[in-house]
Amino acid sequence: MAKTISAPRGTRDLLPEEAAAWNRVEAVARDLSRRYAFERIETPLFERVELFARGLGESSAAVEKEMFRVSGATGSDEERAEWALRPEPTAGIVRAFIEHGMHVRPGPLRLSLIGPMFRYDRPQAGRFRQFSQWDVEVVGDPGPAVDAEVIELAHRFYTEVGLTDVVVHLNSIGDAVCRPAYRQALVDYFSVHIERLTDDSRRRLQVNPLRVLDDKMLAADLTEGAPKSADHLCDECRAHFRQVLDLLDTLGVRHIVDHRLVRGLDYYTRTAFEFVIAGREGQQQALGGGGRYDGLVELLGGRATPGIGFGIGLDRVVIAMQEQGVSLPQASDLVAVVGFADDHADRLRVAGQLRDAGIAVRPDGSSRKLGKQLEAAAKVGAGWAVIVGEELRTGLVGLKNLHSGEQDSVAVEDVAARVSEGSALP
Ligand code: HAM
Repeated sequence: MAKTISAPRGTRDLLPEEAAAWNRVEAVARDLSRRYAFERIETPLFERVELFARGLGESSAAVEKEMFRVSGATGSDEERAEWALRPEPTAGIVRAFIEHGMHVRPGPLRLSLIGPMFRYDRPQAGRFRQFSQWDVEVVGDPGPAVDAEVIELAHRFYTEVGLTDVVVHLNSIGDAVCRPAYRQALVDYFSVHIERLTDDSRRRLQVNPLRVLDDKMLAADLTEGAPKSADHLCDECRAHFRQVLDLLDTLGVRHIVDHRLVRGLDYYTRTAFEFVIAGREGQQQALGGGGRYDGLVELLGGRATPGIGFGIGLDRVVIAMQEQGVSLPQASDLVAVVGFADDHADRLRVAGQLRDAGIAVRPDGSSRKLGKQLEAAAKVGAGWAVIVGEELRTGLVGLKNLHSGEQDSVAVEDVAARVSEGSALP
Protein backbone atom coordinates (compact mmCIF):
# COMPACT_ATOMS: atom_id res chain seq x y z
CA MET A 1 0.00 0.00 0.00
CA ALA A 2 1.20 3.51 -0.76
CA LYS A 3 2.30 5.71 2.15
CA THR A 4 -0.56 7.82 3.50
CA ILE A 5 -0.44 11.60 3.76
CA SER A 6 -1.90 13.45 6.74
CA ALA A 7 -3.36 16.94 7.06
CA PRO A 8 -0.86 19.70 7.94
CA ARG A 9 -0.26 20.27 11.64
CA GLY A 10 -2.64 22.80 13.15
CA THR A 11 -5.37 22.22 10.55
CA ARG A 12 -8.55 20.21 10.87
CA ASP A 13 -10.85 18.35 8.53
CA LEU A 14 -14.51 19.09 9.00
CA LEU A 15 -16.06 15.61 8.98
CA PRO A 16 -19.78 15.03 8.36
CA GLU A 17 -20.48 14.30 12.04
CA GLU A 18 -19.44 17.86 12.86
CA ALA A 19 -21.44 19.36 10.01
CA ALA A 20 -24.62 19.93 12.03
CA ALA A 21 -22.74 22.14 14.52
CA TRP A 22 -20.94 24.06 11.75
CA ASN A 23 -24.19 24.49 9.82
CA ARG A 24 -25.78 25.88 12.97
CA VAL A 25 -23.02 28.42 13.75
CA GLU A 26 -22.81 29.62 10.15
CA ALA A 27 -26.59 29.85 9.81
CA VAL A 28 -26.89 31.83 13.05
CA ALA A 29 -24.03 34.13 11.99
CA ARG A 30 -25.62 34.76 8.56
CA ASP A 31 -29.07 35.28 10.01
CA LEU A 32 -27.79 37.68 12.68
CA SER A 33 -25.81 39.59 10.02
CA ARG A 34 -29.12 40.03 8.19
CA ARG A 35 -31.12 41.00 11.28
CA TYR A 36 -28.48 43.54 12.32
CA ALA A 37 -28.30 44.91 8.77
CA PHE A 38 -24.70 43.94 7.97
CA GLU A 39 -23.77 43.58 4.32
CA ARG A 40 -21.50 40.86 3.01
CA ILE A 41 -17.94 41.68 2.03
CA GLU A 42 -15.17 39.31 0.89
CA THR A 43 -11.49 40.15 0.67
CA PRO A 44 -8.57 38.00 -0.57
CA LEU A 45 -7.18 35.27 1.68
CA PHE A 46 -3.72 36.79 1.15
CA GLU A 47 -2.59 40.39 1.24
CA ARG A 48 0.63 42.37 1.35
CA VAL A 49 2.67 41.72 4.49
CA GLU A 50 2.95 45.49 4.83
CA LEU A 51 -0.82 45.77 5.34
CA PHE A 52 -0.65 43.54 8.40
CA ALA A 53 2.63 45.00 9.67
CA ARG A 54 1.22 48.51 9.53
CA GLY A 55 -2.35 47.64 10.56
CA LEU A 56 -1.87 45.12 13.35
CA GLY A 57 1.53 46.42 14.47
CA GLU A 58 5.06 45.04 13.99
CA SER A 59 5.12 43.92 17.62
CA SER A 60 1.81 42.02 17.58
CA ALA A 61 2.29 38.26 17.85
CA ALA A 62 0.27 37.82 14.63
CA VAL A 63 2.88 39.80 12.69
CA GLU A 64 6.06 39.16 14.64
CA LYS A 65 5.81 35.40 15.05
CA GLU A 66 2.77 34.00 13.28
CA MET A 67 2.82 35.37 9.75
CA PHE A 68 2.02 32.66 7.20
CA ARG A 69 4.09 33.72 4.17
CA VAL A 70 3.12 32.68 0.65
CA SER A 71 4.58 32.90 -2.81
CA GLY A 72 4.21 31.20 -6.18
CA ALA A 73 6.31 28.18 -7.12
CA THR A 74 8.58 30.44 -9.12
CA GLY A 75 8.44 33.21 -6.53
CA SER A 76 11.64 34.98 -5.61
CA ASP A 77 12.65 35.71 -2.05
CA GLU A 78 11.38 39.26 -2.53
CA GLU A 79 7.94 37.92 -3.48
CA ARG A 80 7.94 35.59 -0.51
CA ALA A 81 8.59 38.57 1.68
CA GLU A 82 5.68 40.40 0.13
CA TRP A 83 2.59 38.24 0.72
CA ALA A 84 0.99 36.56 3.70
CA LEU A 85 -2.20 34.63 4.33
CA ARG A 86 -4.51 36.84 6.35
CA PRO A 87 -4.18 36.36 10.11
CA GLU A 88 -7.39 38.36 10.61
CA PRO A 89 -9.86 40.19 8.38
CA THR A 90 -10.11 43.73 9.78
CA ALA A 91 -6.99 45.10 8.04
CA GLY A 92 -8.15 43.70 4.67
CA ILE A 93 -11.66 45.11 5.08
CA VAL A 94 -10.27 48.53 5.95
CA ARG A 95 -7.91 48.30 2.95
CA ALA A 96 -10.92 47.57 0.72
CA PHE A 97 -12.88 50.43 2.34
CA ILE A 98 -10.10 52.86 1.40
CA GLU A 99 -9.30 51.35 -2.01
CA HIS A 100 -12.93 51.51 -3.18
CA GLY A 101 -13.58 54.97 -1.78
CA MET A 102 -16.34 53.53 0.37
CA HIS A 103 -16.33 56.58 2.66
CA VAL A 104 -18.63 58.33 0.14
CA ARG A 105 -21.35 55.71 0.59
CA PRO A 106 -24.21 56.41 2.97
CA GLY A 107 -22.83 55.23 6.29
CA PRO A 108 -21.96 54.07 8.77
CA LEU A 109 -21.04 50.95 6.79
CA ARG A 110 -21.86 47.62 8.33
CA LEU A 111 -19.77 44.85 6.83
CA SER A 112 -19.49 41.18 7.64
CA LEU A 113 -17.71 38.04 6.48
CA ILE A 114 -17.21 34.42 7.43
CA GLY A 115 -14.00 32.75 6.36
CA PRO A 116 -10.67 31.14 7.14
CA MET A 117 -7.77 32.93 8.86
CA PHE A 118 -4.16 31.72 9.16
CA ARG A 119 -1.64 32.12 11.97
CA TYR A 120 1.58 30.16 11.96
CA ASP A 121 1.48 29.56 15.68
CA ARG A 122 2.48 26.49 17.69
CA PRO A 123 -0.67 24.33 17.48
CA GLN A 124 -2.33 23.49 20.80
CA ALA A 125 -5.83 23.01 22.21
CA GLY A 126 -8.16 25.51 20.56
CA ARG A 127 -5.28 27.13 18.67
CA PHE A 128 -4.99 26.24 15.01
CA ARG A 129 -2.95 27.38 12.04
CA GLN A 130 -6.11 27.62 9.97
CA PHE A 131 -9.33 28.60 11.71
CA SER A 132 -12.63 30.26 10.83
CA GLN A 133 -13.98 33.57 12.01
CA TRP A 134 -17.29 35.36 11.76
CA ASP A 135 -16.24 38.99 11.55
CA VAL A 136 -18.38 42.14 11.67
CA GLU A 137 -17.19 45.70 11.25
CA VAL A 138 -18.97 49.05 11.56
CA VAL A 139 -16.96 51.76 9.82
CA GLY A 140 -17.84 55.42 10.30
CA ASP A 141 -19.58 55.42 13.68
CA PRO A 142 -17.77 56.87 16.73
CA GLY A 143 -20.16 55.21 19.22
CA PRO A 144 -20.85 54.68 22.06
CA ALA A 145 -24.28 53.23 21.10
CA VAL A 146 -22.80 51.11 18.32
CA ASP A 147 -20.18 49.72 20.73
CA ALA A 148 -22.98 48.36 22.91
CA GLU A 149 -24.87 47.15 19.83
CA VAL A 150 -21.99 45.03 18.47
CA ILE A 151 -21.22 43.59 21.91
CA GLU A 152 -24.90 42.71 22.30
CA LEU A 153 -24.82 41.15 18.81
CA ALA A 154 -21.93 38.84 19.72
CA HIS A 155 -23.60 38.00 23.01
CA ARG A 156 -26.80 37.08 21.17
CA PHE A 157 -24.81 34.87 18.78
CA TYR A 158 -23.50 32.71 21.63
CA THR A 159 -27.01 32.39 23.05
CA GLU A 160 -28.57 31.49 19.71
CA VAL A 161 -26.02 28.77 18.92
CA GLY A 162 -26.95 27.24 22.29
CA LEU A 163 -23.96 28.12 24.51
CA THR A 164 -24.43 29.10 28.13
CA ASP A 165 -22.21 31.03 30.56
CA VAL A 166 -20.49 33.20 27.96
CA VAL A 167 -19.47 36.54 29.47
CA VAL A 168 -17.85 39.57 27.96
CA HIS A 169 -14.75 41.08 29.54
CA LEU A 170 -14.18 44.66 28.55
CA ASN A 171 -11.93 47.60 29.07
CA SER A 172 -11.21 51.00 27.60
CA ILE A 173 -7.63 51.50 26.51
CA GLY A 174 -7.96 55.19 25.73
CA ASP A 175 -7.13 57.12 22.59
CA ALA A 176 -4.36 59.22 21.05
CA VAL A 177 -4.99 61.92 23.67
CA CYS A 178 -4.69 59.89 26.87
CA ARG A 179 -2.78 56.77 25.75
CA PRO A 180 0.72 58.37 25.78
CA ALA A 181 0.52 59.21 29.49
CA TYR A 182 -0.80 55.74 30.26
CA ARG A 183 2.02 54.14 28.26
CA GLN A 184 4.52 56.17 30.23
CA ALA A 185 2.91 55.13 33.53
CA LEU A 186 3.31 51.47 32.47
CA VAL A 187 6.92 52.00 31.39
CA ASP A 188 7.70 53.62 34.74
CA TYR A 189 6.00 50.83 36.69
CA PHE A 190 7.46 47.87 34.80
CA SER A 191 10.94 49.42 34.63
CA VAL A 192 11.08 49.17 38.41
CA HIS A 193 10.29 45.45 38.11
CA ILE A 194 12.40 44.81 35.03
CA GLU A 195 14.14 41.76 36.54
CA ARG A 196 10.75 40.02 36.94
CA LEU A 197 9.77 40.47 33.27
CA THR A 198 10.09 37.75 30.64
CA ASP A 199 12.36 38.43 27.64
CA ASP A 200 9.23 38.91 25.55
CA SER A 201 7.88 41.52 27.92
CA ARG A 202 11.18 43.41 28.12
CA ARG A 203 10.98 43.77 24.36
CA ARG A 204 7.29 44.71 24.48
CA LEU A 205 8.05 47.34 27.08
CA GLN A 206 10.13 49.17 24.46
CA VAL A 207 7.66 48.89 21.57
CA ASN A 208 4.19 48.54 23.08
CA PRO A 209 4.10 48.59 26.91
CA LEU A 210 0.34 47.86 26.98
CA ARG A 211 1.04 44.39 25.70
CA VAL A 212 3.14 43.57 28.75
CA LEU A 213 -0.22 43.28 30.56
CA ASP A 214 -1.12 40.54 28.07
CA ASP A 215 1.89 38.38 29.02
CA LYS A 216 0.34 35.30 30.61
CA MET A 217 3.78 34.29 31.99
CA LEU A 218 4.01 37.27 34.36
CA ALA A 219 3.23 36.84 38.06
CA ALA A 220 -0.34 37.84 38.87
CA ASP A 221 0.67 40.37 41.54
CA LEU A 222 2.85 42.17 39.00
CA THR A 223 0.07 42.69 36.46
CA GLU A 224 -2.57 43.33 39.12
CA GLY A 225 -0.45 46.05 40.68
CA ALA A 226 0.13 47.75 37.32
CA PRO A 227 -1.47 51.12 36.50
CA LYS A 228 -4.99 50.71 35.10
CA SER A 229 -5.97 52.36 31.84
CA ALA A 230 -9.35 53.24 33.35
CA ASP A 231 -7.49 55.55 35.80
CA HIS A 232 -5.71 57.34 32.95
CA LEU A 233 -8.58 58.01 30.54
CA CYS A 234 -9.19 61.53 29.30
CA ASP A 235 -12.66 62.99 29.94
CA GLU A 236 -14.01 62.01 26.50
CA CYS A 237 -12.76 58.41 26.76
CA ARG A 238 -14.07 58.09 30.31
CA ALA A 239 -17.53 59.36 29.31
CA HIS A 240 -17.53 57.05 26.27
CA PHE A 241 -16.67 54.00 28.38
CA ARG A 242 -19.25 54.91 31.04
CA GLN A 243 -21.96 55.11 28.37
CA VAL A 244 -20.98 51.77 26.85
CA LEU A 245 -21.24 50.13 30.29
CA ASP A 246 -24.60 51.78 31.01
CA LEU A 247 -25.99 50.72 27.63
CA LEU A 248 -24.86 47.13 28.21
CA ASP A 249 -26.66 47.20 31.57
CA THR A 250 -29.79 48.46 29.83
CA LEU A 251 -29.53 45.68 27.24
CA GLY A 252 -29.00 43.06 29.96
CA VAL A 253 -25.59 41.93 28.65
CA ARG A 254 -23.57 40.35 31.45
CA HIS A 255 -20.16 41.97 31.45
CA ILE A 256 -17.02 42.23 33.57
CA VAL A 257 -14.67 45.22 33.48
CA ASP A 258 -11.19 43.75 33.14
CA HIS A 259 -8.35 46.22 33.65
CA ARG A 260 -5.78 43.81 32.22
CA LEU A 261 -7.56 43.39 28.90
CA VAL A 262 -5.52 45.12 26.21
CA ARG A 263 -5.96 42.81 23.15
CA GLY A 264 -3.14 41.47 21.01
CA LEU A 265 -3.43 43.76 17.98
CA ASP A 266 -2.15 47.32 18.02
CA TYR A 267 -5.01 49.05 16.21
CA TYR A 268 -7.37 49.22 19.17
CA THR A 269 -8.55 52.42 20.83
CA ARG A 270 -11.10 52.92 23.59
CA THR A 271 -13.50 49.94 23.84
CA ALA A 272 -11.79 46.51 23.82
CA PHE A 273 -13.56 43.26 24.66
CA GLU A 274 -13.30 39.48 24.70
CA PHE A 275 -15.84 36.71 25.18
CA VAL A 276 -15.00 33.76 27.41
CA ILE A 277 -16.83 30.97 29.18
CA ALA A 278 -17.24 32.06 32.81
CA GLY A 279 -14.64 30.33 34.97
CA ARG A 280 -12.25 29.59 32.10
CA GLU A 281 -10.76 33.06 31.85
CA GLY A 282 -7.09 32.24 32.27
CA GLN A 283 -6.88 29.65 29.53
CA GLN A 284 -6.24 31.81 26.46
CA GLN A 285 -9.45 30.44 25.06
CA ALA A 286 -11.39 33.51 24.03
CA LEU A 287 -14.41 32.57 21.95
CA GLY A 288 -14.25 35.96 20.30
CA GLY A 289 -12.89 39.44 20.68
CA GLY A 290 -12.91 42.87 19.22
CA GLY A 291 -12.95 46.55 19.84
CA ARG A 292 -12.77 50.03 18.47
CA TYR A 293 -10.07 51.08 15.99
CA ASP A 294 -10.55 54.80 15.48
CA GLY A 295 -7.03 55.32 14.07
CA LEU A 296 -6.78 52.40 11.65
CA VAL A 297 -8.32 53.89 8.49
CA GLU A 298 -5.97 56.86 8.72
CA LEU A 299 -3.00 54.63 9.55
CA LEU A 300 -3.64 52.72 6.33
CA GLY A 301 -3.82 55.88 4.24
CA GLY A 302 -7.52 56.77 4.31
CA ARG A 303 -9.16 59.82 5.81
CA ALA A 304 -9.73 59.62 9.58
CA THR A 305 -12.78 57.38 10.15
CA PRO A 306 -13.74 55.58 13.36
CA GLY A 307 -14.51 51.86 13.40
CA ILE A 308 -15.46 48.99 15.65
CA GLY A 309 -15.96 45.27 15.16
CA PHE A 310 -15.35 41.77 16.42
CA GLY A 311 -14.14 38.38 15.27
CA ILE A 312 -15.63 35.20 16.67
CA GLY A 313 -13.55 32.01 16.43
CA LEU A 314 -16.01 29.50 15.04
CA ASP A 315 -13.77 26.46 15.69
CA ARG A 316 -13.68 27.31 19.39
CA VAL A 317 -17.45 27.89 19.38
CA VAL A 318 -18.04 24.44 17.85
CA ILE A 319 -15.69 22.84 20.41
CA ALA A 320 -17.51 24.64 23.26
CA MET A 321 -20.86 23.43 21.88
CA GLN A 322 -19.55 19.86 21.94
CA GLU A 323 -18.23 20.32 25.50
CA GLN A 324 -21.54 21.75 26.69
CA GLY A 325 -23.50 19.00 24.89
CA VAL A 326 -25.58 21.44 22.85
CA SER A 327 -28.27 19.34 21.18
CA LEU A 328 -28.63 19.64 17.44
CA PRO A 329 -31.95 18.18 16.26
CA GLN A 330 -31.47 15.71 13.42
CA ALA A 331 -33.80 16.34 10.50
CA SER A 332 -35.82 13.18 9.92
CA ASP A 333 -37.11 14.20 6.51
CA LEU A 334 -34.40 12.46 4.52
CA VAL A 335 -36.06 10.06 2.06
CA ALA A 336 -34.47 6.89 0.67
CA VAL A 337 -35.81 5.61 -2.63
CA VAL A 338 -35.65 1.83 -2.77
CA GLY A 339 -37.00 -0.75 -5.22
CA PHE A 340 -37.41 -4.40 -6.05
CA ALA A 341 -35.34 -5.31 -9.05
CA ASP A 342 -33.07 -3.54 -11.48
CA ASP A 343 -35.55 -0.67 -11.68
CA HIS A 344 -32.91 2.02 -11.22
CA ALA A 345 -34.44 4.17 -13.94
CA ASP A 346 -37.71 4.33 -11.96
CA ARG A 347 -35.88 5.03 -8.68
CA LEU A 348 -33.88 7.87 -10.21
CA ARG A 349 -36.96 9.31 -11.91
CA VAL A 350 -38.97 9.27 -8.66
CA ALA A 351 -35.96 10.71 -6.78
CA GLY A 352 -35.91 13.56 -9.31
CA GLN A 353 -39.62 14.28 -8.80
CA LEU A 354 -39.19 14.37 -5.03
CA ARG A 355 -36.17 16.70 -5.35
CA ASP A 356 -38.28 18.96 -7.58
CA ALA A 357 -40.61 19.20 -4.57
CA GLY A 358 -37.69 20.23 -2.33
CA ILE A 359 -37.07 16.93 -0.54
CA ALA A 360 -33.63 15.50 0.34
CA VAL A 361 -33.34 12.12 -1.38
CA ARG A 362 -30.87 9.21 -1.42
CA PRO A 363 -31.77 6.65 -4.08
CA ASP A 364 -30.40 3.19 -3.33
CA GLY A 365 -28.13 2.24 -6.24
CA SER A 366 -27.91 -1.44 -5.42
CA SER A 367 -29.90 -4.46 -6.53
CA ARG A 368 -29.88 -6.14 -3.10
CA LYS A 369 -33.05 -7.38 -1.40
CA LEU A 370 -35.64 -4.79 -0.34
CA GLY A 371 -35.15 -5.62 3.37
CA LYS A 372 -31.41 -4.87 3.09
CA GLN A 373 -32.09 -1.59 1.30
CA LEU A 374 -34.50 -0.51 4.07
CA GLU A 375 -31.95 -1.42 6.76
CA ALA A 376 -29.28 0.58 4.96
CA ALA A 377 -31.67 3.56 4.64
CA ALA A 378 -32.35 3.61 8.39
CA LYS A 379 -28.60 3.39 9.10
CA VAL A 380 -27.81 6.50 7.06
CA GLY A 381 -30.48 8.43 8.95
CA ALA A 382 -33.41 8.39 6.51
CA GLY A 383 -36.78 8.93 8.20
CA TRP A 384 -38.71 7.60 5.23
CA ALA A 385 -38.42 5.10 2.40
CA VAL A 386 -40.24 5.47 -0.87
CA ILE A 387 -40.67 2.01 -2.36
CA VAL A 388 -40.88 1.94 -6.11
CA GLY A 389 -42.67 -1.07 -7.59
CA GLU A 390 -45.46 -2.22 -9.88
CA GLU A 391 -47.85 0.45 -8.53
CA LEU A 392 -45.77 3.14 -10.18
CA ARG A 393 -47.68 2.45 -13.40
CA THR A 394 -50.70 3.99 -11.70
CA GLY A 395 -48.60 6.79 -10.19
CA LEU A 396 -48.36 5.28 -6.71
CA VAL A 397 -45.38 4.38 -4.52
CA GLY A 398 -45.10 2.79 -1.09
CA LEU A 399 -44.25 5.31 1.65
CA LYS A 400 -42.75 3.73 4.76
CA ASN A 401 -42.08 5.63 7.98
CA LEU A 402 -38.78 4.09 9.07
CA HIS A 403 -39.31 5.10 12.71
CA SER A 404 -42.82 3.71 13.23
CA GLY A 405 -42.76 1.03 10.51
CA GLU A 406 -46.14 2.23 9.14
CA GLN A 407 -46.54 1.97 5.40
CA ASP A 408 -49.17 2.86 2.81
CA SER A 409 -49.60 3.66 -0.84
CA VAL A 410 -49.30 7.29 -1.85
CA ALA A 411 -49.30 9.23 -5.12
CA VAL A 412 -45.77 10.40 -5.96
CA GLU A 413 -46.92 14.02 -5.93
CA ASP A 414 -48.29 13.64 -2.39
CA VAL A 415 -45.04 12.29 -0.88
CA ALA A 416 -43.55 15.73 -0.19
CA ALA A 417 -46.58 16.88 1.81
CA ARG A 418 -46.73 13.63 3.78
CA VAL A 419 -43.03 13.77 4.60
CA SER A 420 -43.07 17.37 5.77
CA GLU A 421 -46.21 16.76 7.87
CA GLY A 422 -44.62 13.75 9.47
CA SER A 423 -41.05 14.98 9.79
CA ALA A 424 -41.82 16.70 13.07
CA LEU A 425 -42.39 13.21 14.53
CA PRO A 426 -39.34 11.60 16.19
P1 HAM B 1 -8.50 38.14 17.65
O1 HAM B 1 -8.76 38.26 19.09
O2 HAM B 1 -7.08 38.03 17.22
O3 HAM B 1 -9.19 39.40 16.97
O4 HAM B 1 -9.27 36.89 17.07
C1 HAM B 1 -10.67 36.79 17.25
C2 HAM B 1 -11.03 35.36 17.65
O5 HAM B 1 -10.53 34.41 16.69
C3 HAM B 1 -10.42 34.89 18.96
O6 HAM B 1 -11.16 35.34 20.07
C4 HAM B 1 -10.50 33.38 18.80
O7 HAM B 1 -11.83 32.93 19.10
C5 HAM B 1 -10.25 33.19 17.33
N1 HAM B 1 -8.85 32.79 17.10
C6 HAM B 1 -7.77 33.61 17.05
N2 HAM B 1 -6.65 32.90 16.82
C7 HAM B 1 -7.03 31.60 16.72
C8 HAM B 1 -6.34 30.36 16.48
N3 HAM B 1 -5.02 30.34 16.25
N4 HAM B 1 -7.06 29.21 16.46
C9 HAM B 1 -8.41 29.24 16.66
N5 HAM B 1 -9.11 30.37 16.88
C10 HAM B 1 -8.43 31.53 16.91
C11 HAM B 1 -9.20 39.63 15.63
O8 HAM B 1 -8.88 38.82 14.79
C12 HAM B 1 -9.77 40.99 15.27
N6 HAM B 1 -9.72 41.12 13.78
C13 HAM B 1 -11.20 41.14 15.77
C14 HAM B 1 -11.76 42.46 15.42
C15 HAM B 1 -12.60 42.75 14.40
N7 HAM B 1 -11.49 43.60 16.03
C16 HAM B 1 -12.14 44.60 15.42
N8 HAM B 1 -12.82 44.07 14.41
